[in-house]
Amino acid sequence: MESHDKRIVPLTIPDLSGNEETYAVDAIRSSWISSTGEYVNRFESEFGKLTESKEVISTCNGTVALHLAMLALDLKPGDEVIIPSLTFIATANAVRYVGAEPIFVDISAETWCLNPDLIHAAITSKTRGIIAVDLYGHPADFDAINAIAMDNGLWVVEDAAEAHLALYKGRKSGSLADVSVFSFYGNKIITCGEGGALTTNNVKFASRAKLLRGQGMDPERRYYFSTIGYNYRLNNVSCAILCAQIERIDLMIQERKKAFEIYHSKLCNVKGILFQPIAMWANPAPWLFSITINEVKFGCNRDVLIAFLDEKGIETRPFFIPIHTLPPYQDSAKNRGCSLPVTELISKSGINLPTSSKMNQTEIIYICDMIKECRDSLL
Ligand SMILES: Cc1ncc(COP(=O)(O)O)c(C=O)c1O
Repeated sequence: MESHDKRIVPLTIPDLSGNEETYAVDAIRSSWISSTGEYVNRFESEFGKLTESKEVISTCNGTVALHLAMLALDLKPGDEVIIPSLTFIATANAVRYVGAEPIFVDISAETWCLNPDLIHAAITSKTRGIIAVDLYGHPADFDAINAIAMDNGLWVVEDAAEAHLALYKGRKSGSLADVSVFSFYGNKIITCGEGGALTTNNVKFASRAKLLRGQGMDPERRYYFSTIGYNYRLNNVSCAILCAQIERIDLMIQERKKAFEIYHSKLCNVKGILFQPIAMWANPAPWLFSITINEVKFGCNRDVLIAFLDEKGIETRPFFIPIHTLPPYQDSAKNRGCSLPVTELISKSGINLPTSSKMNQTEIIYICDMIKECRDSLL
């Protein structure tokens, strides 16, 4: 294995091999480098078509897109929002940014997303909405979640940061709830380094979100600020990069799916390794190939495997630490008697493996071989 030892396989590498450079240079030469320019309009229009949404509001990252959603939905201090705990911290922080409280509900073992059967019990007179996360590319069960929301007068936000072009019963992520949120951070399927977007069919919500995104300036009256707004806009150079990414999104997804297939075929007979489940109605976005380790059957726990792969130059990522156990949220969750057994089980046993559209078969086979070598070294 000598020749493998110096190899470094990063968790993700952005694929910028199309028109990214040409469009970015074009934006720079045009001198439109701030948040107006033809690439901003083009990106918003094309992303709307891709996600089957009437309105797209580009933002400077996914976290502020979530914050903007909470503001434009008029979430207030003391309100409650139901969210999963197995997600990136930004989902919960956006709720707290406006003084509201995230109420954590467990995930389903079949999707790793919010379990609709458990939502009802978490609804109180203070509940205003639900943020369902399409975790690791797999869409949440939106028909069930939207029906509960409708019955209880709640809004639903889809956090699709990790799920570009996932399909739910044939419908695209970005069109599955009242409002959806995307991230275009460097590790996402399409990226511009730092960027985000909101998508919606609700024109009233969109105009409120646009007002708040642009410092609260009245679109009909320059320098008249009708409300306290924010500077959450995305710039024309970043949108130029995103326009180039959109041109190749289908190809990049196809390539990532091929990588998923190789992982599947090489790891399917390894005892103690379980794959991310896929619901019958889902066609997930191939973001990061995700597995869980059954410690007893595999022979060691997830952290030992991560350290072993790290030694072999393979970068991996443990699953998110449940947010209800983290310092800013643990006291409030404890006081509410929060108990999330599925979340905790999946979190402590899960690993995201390297995934990029430019990965080659040899790299994936190397990773799978090293996983097997770790197991064999323990036998
Ligand atoms: C589920 C989820 N929501 C929100 C975000 C925040 O997006 P950003 O990093 O662009 O702020 C991320 C991560 O990147 C995420 O994974």
